[in-house]
Amino acid sequence: DVIVLRHPQPGAAKKAASICAKPVLNAGDGTGEHPTQALLDVFTIREEIGTVNGLVITMGKLMASVFYEVSTRTNCSFSAAMQRLGGSVVSMDTVSSSVKKGESFEDSMIMMSTYADVIVLRHPQPGAAKKAASICAKPVLNAGDGTGEHPTQALLDVFTIREEIGTVNGLVITMVGDLKHGRTVHSLAKLLTLYNVQLRYVSPAGLSMPQSVIDFVKSCQVSQSVYGSLEEALPGTDVLYVTRIQKERFESELEYKKCCGKFVVTPQLMTKAKQKMIVMHPLPRLDEILTDFDTDPRAAYFRQAENGVYIRMAVLSLTLGKTSSHVGQL
Ligand code: CP
Repeated sequence: DVIVLRHPQPGAAKKAASICAKPVLNAGDGTGEHPTQALLDVFTIREEIGTVNGLVITMGKLMASVFYEVSTRTNCSFSAAMQRLGGSVVSMDTVSSSVKKGESFEDSMIMMSTYADVIVLRHPQPGAAKKAASICAKPVLNAGDGTGEHPTQALLDVFTIREEIGTVNGLVITMVGDLKHGRTVHSLAKLLTLYNVQLRYVSPAGLSMPQSVIDFVKSCQVSQSVYGSLEEALPGTDVLYVTRIQKERFESELEYKKCCGKFVVTPQLMTKAKQKMIVMHPLPRLDEILTDFDTDPRAAYFRQAENGVYIRMAVLSLTLGKTSSHVGQL
């Protein structure tokens, strides 16, 4: 009833269709066309990314990955995202660049904005991304600015909650660990004010959520409470968001050690938690979640990290889509 034809001659399928009384499907005609391949390609893009519109513009685009602080997930997932979108990446860090020779932040940013279409910046100084954005002619994406913010992490965190639980509204979200220095919880708490949630905070003495974040959350009429222990906060919790004690932000090893090991997620502790809940962590983890817990279905942190690629693909697409001046040429 139907003929599927592959032939070395361009136009062969068309010729066959003119001869045959039955439909002819072109399965590749030499150097001509391969239409069903194109259909499955577009289907794949829609399945993987959710849309085709706005994506193709990243082909031929260049992302500058500028990391003044170390990173595994943010650096590599941004690079993977850009390359999966058909773009490419140049990288700069403080070890192999002229930062070593004393080149200023401002000059380095100007250079990167002349090379690339978008700059992804991690820096130890809060406000560094905002400063770079005021210098650069190209968009700057904040990949973490010291103890400030980590906005793309917050986006992937909320995406993960939606993927895992199906909704964000109505949830009790408990943040535990170094809430003072942890930029991920600063951005996440702010982003969660867009939803109807209850926030609980658990931290060692001296590492509580900054007053500026508490004031922001309060101004949005979102419920927030401080708990003294995980055992108290855990019952009723839908999302336990664990963070590392950030050694690199402490004045001394002694001060850091005083704060370690206070709140540790163990399989035994998690018997007190709901069966239908998730444990998240922006990673890297040290000893705040025992590896024994990794096989528990509630352990969502590696799935969370994988979501970083998809979210950063979306962020890059939106950013380059809005700023592209070369769409017509591609
Ligand atoms: N979550 C996160 O920012 O991890 P990295 O420091 O490895 O990028």
